[in-house]
Amino acid sequence: MNPIQDKRIILGVTGSIACYKAADLASKLTQAGAQVDVILTESGARFIQPLTFQSVTGRKAYQEKDLWDDQGHVTHIGLGHHADLLVIAPVTANTIAKLAHGIADNLLTLTALAAACPLMIAPAMDGGMFTHPAAQDNLAILHRRGAIVVGPEEGRFASGMVGLGRMSEPQTILGEIRRVLAEGGPLAGRKVVVTAGGTQEPLDPVRYLTNRSSGRQGYALAQAAVDLGAQVILISAPAALTLPAGADLIPVRTAAEMLEVVLDQTAKADILLMAAAVADFKPASTANQKIKKGEDALTLPLTRTADILLQVGKRKAQTGFPRLMVGFAAESENLLANAAQKLSAKHLELIAANDISAADAGFEVDTNRITLLFPGGEQQQLDLMSKAEVSAAILDRCVELLAAKGG
Ligand code: CTP
Repeated sequence: MNPIQDKRIILGVTGSIACYKAADLASKLTQAGAQVDVILTESGARFIQPLTFQSVTGRKAYQEKDLWDDQGHVTHIGLGHHADLLVIAPVTANTIAKLAHGIADNLLTLTALAAACPLMIAPAMDGGMFTHPAAQDNLAILHRRGAIVVGPEEGRFASGMVGLGRMSEPQTILGEIRRVLAEGGPLAGRKVVVTAGGTQEPLDPVRYLTNRSSGRQGYALAQAAVDLGAQVILISAPAALTLPAGADLIPVRTAAEMLEVVLDQTAKADILLMAAAVADFKPASTANQKIKKGEDALTLPLTRTADILLQVGKRKAQTGFPRLMVGFAAESENLLANAAQKLSAKHLELIAANDISAADAGFEVDTNRITLLFPGGEQQQLDLMSKAEVSAAILDRCVELLAAKGG
């Protein structure tokens, strides 16, 4: 499940031109199912109206004057005590200094002092302020206390100067929030290795053999594993996709490179989710120079690549790692028979059979029609689902399988 769903998040907004991005963040958090309470400092409210936040969150956006109304003396305690996370984005050098030294002179810093939940800050500051020793020392204090610091990024400031200090994009902050809220989930302390994308087998310096895999199912699996609190390694062939926050990417190109990295990463892993479309054949040799047109026809000799699951399975038989191996079977005919054959041939704990003959399933679309097959003969047919939902369903079964194995 999306770990942001039903969480109570306080979003502090301090005075920076990056305030406009905070409205987008508030909107994204609300759409992800969070209850978002916004607190604007006085200078924050100069850059952006509370009404903007109220409109996207559907909740009152607090401002400085709320500290002094008839409920004011308890507002900050109430907000701080019930929150799952306090995010301040953008946070100025001034507010960072106050947080570091326990100064509580406005509704936001009072709430921060009263809050029992984790603190995440996304700094935004112009023209070299971020690298000033005062700002760096204050950040180091907050870091030591466990605050999560997101960004800032390099780029062009409002002043026209260029440097380090632009607030991270809302999508990046959202990913970090998702990761932090997933900590302690059912896969906490577990290492999950995911492969994704279609391998590329080079023919010459400009050409390669590949397939239609987009990598979407693998990236969705990596996100689902992060959402359950796992340590996630994503071994990906080239894919035009955003890495889920909290997953570590190891880029590879060929089947041979993928084999080497998978063997290395699964030596102590709990789960291998083998979603990559690995080439079964590669050019027998790779030309050093670009192959010229020459004749009217060209015949390419191909040789077999290693079967990664088979190789990992051999090691698993000796060492017990990875504890679970999950394969994927993309089939255009005899779906269940072919998948069952691969399940047993590759000694998997689970295989996800994917009918790619349907227009709404398989490559380059966001949905899949999947049947899960298990060694005892059990089958679980999933409805037409998004690749994210398929991933969550597969990870749920993995949690059960790991629990059944014990240890
Ligand atoms: N796989 C692998 N190494 C390969 C080829 C496939 O580890 N060289 C994995 C895939 O990542 C997938 C599973 O094996 O999880 C099944 O892949 P698939 O391409 O459906 O099957 P193949 O074993 O390649 O058999 P075939 O191409 O004959 O259908």
